[in-house]
Amino acid sequence: MDSNNNGISRRELGKRVGAIAAASALAGIVIPTVHAAENSTIQVALIGCGGRGTGAASDALHAKGPTIKLVAMADVFKDRQDNSYAALSGNKEIAPRVDVPPERRFIGFDAYKKAMDCLKPGDVAIFATPLAFRWVHFGYAIEKGLNVFMEKPLSADGSSSRKLLKLGEEAQSKNLKVAVGLMSRHSRSLEELSKRIGDGAIGEIILMRGYRMHGPAATFRSTPKPANISELDYQIRRFHSFIWASGGCFNDFYIHHIDHLCWMKNAWPVKAQAVGGRHYKTADDGTPYVDQNFDSYGVEYTFADGTKLNFDGRCMDGAQEIYSSHLHGTKGCAISSPGGDCGSPSTIFKGLAETKENQVWQSTVQSNPYLNEWQDLIDAIVQDKPYSELKRGVEASLVCNMGRMAAHTGHEVTFDQVLNSDHVFAPDVDKMTESSPAPVLADANGMYPKPEPGKKKREY
Ligand SMILES: NC(=O)c1ccc[n+]([C@@H]2O[C@H](COP(=O)([O-])OP(=O)(O)OC[C@H]3O[C@@H](n4cnc5c(N)ncnc54)[C@H](O)[C@@H]3O)[C@@H](O)[C@H]2O)c1
Repeated sequence: MDSNNNGISRRELGKRVGAIAAASALAGIVIPTVHAAENSTIQVALIGCGGRGTGAASDALHAKGPTIKLVAMADVFKDRQDNSYAALSGNKEIAPRVDVPPERRFIGFDAYKKAMDCLKPGDVAIFATPLAFRWVHFGYAIEKGLNVFMEKPLSADGSSSRKLLKLGEEAQSKNLKVAVGLMSRHSRSLEELSKRIGDGAIGEIILMRGYRMHGPAATFRSTPKPANISELDYQIRRFHSFIWASGGCFNDFYIHHIDHLCWMKNAWPVKAQAVGGRHYKTADDGTPYVDQNFDSYGVEYTFADGTKLNFDGRCMDGAQEIYSSHLHGTKGCAISSPGGDCGSPSTIFKGLAETKENQVWQSTVQSNPYLNEWQDLIDAIVQDKPYSELKRGVEASLVCNMGRMAAHTGHEVTFDQVLNSDHVFAPDVDKMTESSPAPVLADANGMYPKPEPGKKKREY
């Protein structure tokens, strides 16, 4: 669902719209200059060569300005890297800038270091592995003086969120640029909507709604591990099924709506309560689904001023598909995304009903947020502007953790609780090797520990 082996995700092909990033400013801080644009060439290393990583590398090579070259690739699986290299080097438009001979294609859990060792300070590392490895890879990039583009989501638990926030400060003190793949923030139509809402176009926001409901996508559900693959490999290949690796389908699929609706409100919610469950526990032939996800989630987030954000997520065949986001204010309402994670056009209406007669504004700008996010990063590097989306990316991830945890425990959860939570999902992920035990183990029936709301204090 998210991406194909040509390196261009379906989402990327589907939605070409956008707004600009709000890069956070570092007012008044004296920072050293580290930017690779001095010799007009920026080198890029891709770490995590799956669908999105391949797409992100392609987007990087499309950015305008300095010459951008892909020079190194790292993955834990050779088949994934081979597919990615074939897609990138087989794309005539970017092939001349794909310079990754076999000796700069690295495989293994330490491959990230070897790929980043091929770069010089001021170059860019792309992180597109499952989120469990973000803080590990980010720490090494900072040591090497590298700018970073890291895919969403960033963290599944409090411990890795806190580590990332600390690293984010270190990166800023070293003047490193950090982009996070929440591409809605680079949708030009959402930027225009945000400005208009800020200017009072719908009055005070009192309610927001997000829906991502479609069939089972990516590796949302898993059947018992086959004998011919190790436990760790299975969990990494099927990362959406495992909370330690991805935050589950909740973080991975739902973060975009949650993030861009919070952007419109210009705040993060302070608490969440939620319902959720797994309706379909077996395939039609009776094979059990063994992953850690619910197939339905309904979360009510509350902001400090009492505003609500309701988010419904569902992965289920045959049920109605709804994939859109909406806002309600004291003077009117708006559709932020009519389809997809950040589709266009965005529309503002007077009154309560989203009707043609009530429509007062609709965005007209068409641009691709996946290309915009790269152009904005490259411009920041070339112009040496402070640029960090890290804190915002961690906060959006924490808000996802809050909703997921509320559904999985059956209890209200606050932002402070998720930030300070001591449940570490992937201890020692920085020391992980091929022979490490997997962070969760299956029982005799192949079932992984799953949430049981009301019964367990923790998620599993
Ligand atoms: N912004 C978006 O719209 C968007 C779209 C799709 C995916 N994503 C994000 O991108 C990330 C990757 O998703 P994907 O769909 O490309 O998954 P994928 O499985 O296609 O790719 C992940 C790749 O990372 C590799 N990998 C795993 N652990 C690694 C490690 N420790 N070191 C090196 N390589 C490792 C895997 O082998 C695989 O090739 C996820 O965080 C996902 O949420 C974002």
